[in-house]
Amino acid sequence: MKVLTANPTGLCFGVRRAIEALERALEERGRVYSIGSPIHNPQEVERLEARGLVVVDDLDEVPPGAPLFVRAHGIAPTLLDEALRKCGEVIDGTCPFVRKAQERARDLSAEGYPVVIVGDGEHPEVRGILGFVKGFALVVPGDHDPSLSRLSRFAKVGVLSQTTQKMEVFSSVAKALVGIVPEVRVYNTICSATLERQRAVCELASMVDGILVIGGRNSANTRKLVQIAQEAGASVLWIEHPDELDLGWLRGRGSIGLAAGGSTPDWLIRELIERLEKL
Ligand code: F3S
Repeated sequence: MKVLTANPTGLCFGVRRAIEALERALEERGRVYSIGSPIHNPQEVERLEARGLVVVDDLDEVPPGAPLFVRAHGIAPTLLDEALRKCGEVIDGTCPFVRKAQERARDLSAEGYPVVIVGDGEHPEVRGILGFVKGFALVVPGDHDPSLSRLSRFAKVGVLSQTTQKMEVFSSVAKALVGIVPEVRVYNTICSATLERQRAVCELASMVDGILVIGGRNSANTRKLVQIAQEAGASVLWIEHPDELDLGWLRGRGSIGLAAGGSTPDWLIRELIERLEKL
């Protein structure tokens, strides 16, 4: 069986950068707190917890003076200020692409534009971006969302995207807005890492007999890779750990493509490749 790996695939620049900062802080401070998982990958979180990471749900659970890590998704500015007052030391792992989206949201609302964010309103990145909007804000998952009609009372609107959004979904919302509001200012804040990984898996899907995706089940960008491969007509096996390899799925396939979510650590991909080589 031939195995072709999507290129690029695996850890994106933003998550790699954040985890490296977290590892340095763990080395220096021994114990570092994070509100929510620092990375959408349970195996990597387990590894970091063994080194002193403490994952909490809320800032209230962080002892005063203890260092706090802000993950690549970023947080709202009010929470950051509160964290700085309470913890003194904040290791800010906000991805520069997310930072850009936060700044766009802040600037648009400062200029009086209601802000539309194309994404998942429950996702921490989107909740963080929303924190930068001073006026009206609306989060929509796609152009079918009925709440878009609420924007007809505005003369202008600004639209940006969750960084991991699919381009077609983002552009369809921007297009719908043009039919509703006279002035639409569009900022494409989808990060190139996501697009490159999505394109790579789409190309690979037409070259192989199946696509094997490794990544956390709680990882939105891994789920999108799976969707894209399925939409391209590929048979897809999504696993979180090499132990989940399904031999029945592999049987009879002359070639498979391997893709990993943007939050899958290198060591897990290596383990999977070694496992496949043995097979
Ligand atoms: Fe940043 Fe894009 Fe990764 S926004 S965290 S480089 S998926």
